[in-house]
Amino acid sequence: MDWSHHLAQRSHHLKSSIIREILKLSRKPNIISFAGGLPAPDLFPIEQLRGPAERVLVERGAKALQYSTTEGHFPLREWIASRLPGSDAQRIRIVSGSQQGLDLAAKVLCDPGDKVAVAAPTYMGALRAFDAYQVDYLTIACDEGGMIPASIEDAFRKKPKLLYVIPDFDNPTGVSLSLARRRQLLELAERYDVPIIEDNPYGELRFEGEALPSLLELSPERVIHTGTFSKIVAPGLRLAWITGPEKVVDVITRAKQATDLHTATFTQLLAVEALASGFLDEHLGKLRRHYRGQRDLMLGALEANVPPGVSWTRPHGGMFLWVTLPEDVNATRLLQRAVEQEVAFVPGEAFFAAGGGENFLRLSYSVATADEIHQGIARLAGVIGEDPGVSRPGVRAREATPGD
Ligand SMILES: Cc1ncc(COP(=O)(O)O)c(C=O)c1O
Repeated sequence: MDWSHHLAQRSHHLKSSIIREILKLSRKPNIISFAGGLPAPDLFPIEQLRGPAERVLVERGAKALQYSTTEGHFPLREWIASRLPGSDAQRIRIVSGSQQGLDLAAKVLCDPGDKVAVAAPTYMGALRAFDAYQVDYLTIACDEGGMIPASIEDAFRKKPKLLYVIPDFDNPTGVSLSLARRRQLLELAERYDVPIIEDNPYGELRFEGEALPSLLELSPERVIHTGTFSKIVAPGLRLAWITGPEKVVDVITRAKQATDLHTATFTQLLAVEALASGFLDEHLGKLRRHYRGQRDLMLGALEANVPPGVSWTRPHGGMFLWVTLPEDVNATRLLQRAVEQEVAFVPGEAFFAAGGGENFLRLSYSVATADEIHQGIARLAGVIGEDPGVSRPGVRAREATPGD
């Protein structure tokens, strides 16, 4: 049977993710992978979850294993609200990963042909979530401070249905929007009446500089905000939240009910039980120290090895840094040779909604060991150095750009 005639229009918009293909490659033995955006598994708080998991099963097993409300377990929503300025528990919904939050937000906001404004580059998982609703994209140019206000305004003149942004330690670039840019973005959104989806999986992983207010805090009536336990506890729990104005949260609740009824009751109760012990703040301290150390190792290895003509961001948090190659270097082509040398990364073009970005690549420093960072960056530098686009005379070094 030929199923292609039976598929819905929207299924033709479901693209396979290049990340998945690359992750397959990087599972080969001996490959040093800077490709995946996985949290460091050695730091999963297994011991801190074990006791609470047992207590939930022994003391409240019948509740934990039963169906529960679409809105989510209220004590968990209260805990999230207590740490999220600009929110209140009544308007928080628990979702099965912020990826589901993005899907639900797109489902209730976007009709086919609507325009969604995104940074170029941006998180490809968000693009894949929006694709399913048959949207078009307006791309916003970025510099070392994230989205450029003049480019935001150009996009807003074309009347987007919404803007999607990761203000803290962006995936893929690692950069953050300054307070001034956050305010400029919100002023423009107000002037052109554009709703904003703020995706913040990495904000708690700040290891340098002062925390900045979220867009939600600055403009609670205009911003739909999603956050997650994936990077601060463990992604396998599939626990995240979405919040925003009451009207939107109400329709998101109905959409979620149709999608999966509710997020797993057991993991929600487990989270409340574990968080009550207060373990998270100490755990976050550990994560921040670890990721800072990893970033420093990677920055050091890049500085020591990478040839002139290449620059990179210097993130103040999160898991990624973003490398700019000379314009004639194509990172997808480079990846093929890198994999032969047993090192992997994600080519930048995967993060550009409207094409381009061939001369960028994303490196994740989250899971590699110190040894792997040294060896892997040295191999990568070798591959870059051999590329005809780099060895060409006349390519000049550029200043490394700051993170935020
Ligand atoms: C920017 C961004 N948003 C959302 C997600 C999805 O996270 P979750 O595990 O909460 O679904 C990720 C995961 O890497 C991400 O980088």
